[in-house]
Amino acid sequence: MALSLFDTSATLRPLRAQLRAAMERVLDSERYILGEEVAAFEREFAAYCGTAHAVGVANGTDAITIALRAMGVGPGDEVVVPSFTFYASVEAAVNAGATPVFCDIDPRTFCVTRETVEAAMTDRTKAIVAVDLFGWLPPLAELRDLGIPILEDAAQAHGAQRDGRRSGSYGDAATFSFFPSKNLGALGDGGAVVTDDDDVAELVRRLRFHGSTDKVTYTEVGYNSRLDELQAAALRELLPELEGWNDARRAAARAYAERGLAEVPDMELPQTGDEREHVFHLYVVRHPDPDAIEARLAERDIGARGYYRRPVHLQPAMERHGAERLDLPGTAEAARTHLALPMGTELSEQQVDEVVAACASGST
Ligand SMILES: Cc1ncc(COP(=O)(O)O)c(C=O)c1O
Repeated sequence: MALSLFDTSATLRPLRAQLRAAMERVLDSERYILGEEVAAFEREFAAYCGTAHAVGVANGTDAITIALRAMGVGPGDEVVVPSFTFYASVEAAVNAGATPVFCDIDPRTFCVTRETVEAAMTDRTKAIVAVDLFGWLPPLAELRDLGIPILEDAAQAHGAQRDGRRSGSYGDAATFSFFPSKNLGALGDGGAVVTDDDDVAELVRRLRFHGSTDKVTYTEVGYNSRLDELQAAALRELLPELEGWNDARRAAARAYAERGLAEVPDMELPQTGDEREHVFHLYVVRHPDPDAIEARLAERDIGARGYYRRPVHLQPAMERHGAERLDLPGTAEAARTHLALPMGTELSEQQVDEVVAACASGST
């Protein structure tokens, strides 16, 4: 049985007619940029996240750069950011003019903690980029107590909760990606910034549109970074499905735990929290020899992958920030041991059994 790491086609298949109708709606409107679909999606997504504003942009990377700039981050400022994340979390901060200061994570959650962030703070720290990695939220309330503005990078955590609040509603601003494989994915690139701060929202709106509100007067040097009408129309059809999809992902995670994965020697399962916390964008285990597990799965044509084997501070582009000398033991441990196993909205118990059996094969 071939099984891929994730399968977005299976998720979207039942919605094809609905998506076609949404595309047709945009064609009929003859409006393709910043029209009614984007405005409506922004209202609907803000309501879902529980924030005053959502502003659609071209992708999740631009969302971070633009949000940081709107929060006042610029050249000379330091931004504390984890190294164990997708490269874009850091790249976007550098593109905002900031110097990244890498902090460690807790390898059990793959996320930053108050202590790891505090250890990286200096007088020049202007913001913290807190990444909701793999669908789990770091302790955002505790991070707020540090008194530094927080940008929540929620690209992997649409709908995740902590203490009864949804991702996006904790920080001074939060950013989302709608890359097709995300928990809420568009039919191409897309992103959003959400915030309760009227001034930040207003500045994000200008920055996504060349620093202008009217294309006559330009008050900032901004970007051409808009969510387009076709993507917004698709996202409006898909947003109502998100809660059900996240429930299905949680059910698959429960199945892994209940159907023997925890009994595979040395296998550390991801932490799950209470019912609504984790949204399992990826189902990531830890194992002292992840390559051996990956090889056992590959033999049965089952996809598995280590996402961040070389953490961002060790990437060649980061050499100029002197980060290769850093000692980040939690990051090193997570980088060495993590492995994503198949996860998705359509993963069946039978498929979970196949994955568990493959992981267990050859073990003593
Ligand atoms: C944690 C994280 N941050 C930022 C991004 C960037 O999003 P995008 O690919 O839409 O630019 C991604 C996803 O790709 C991500 O996983």
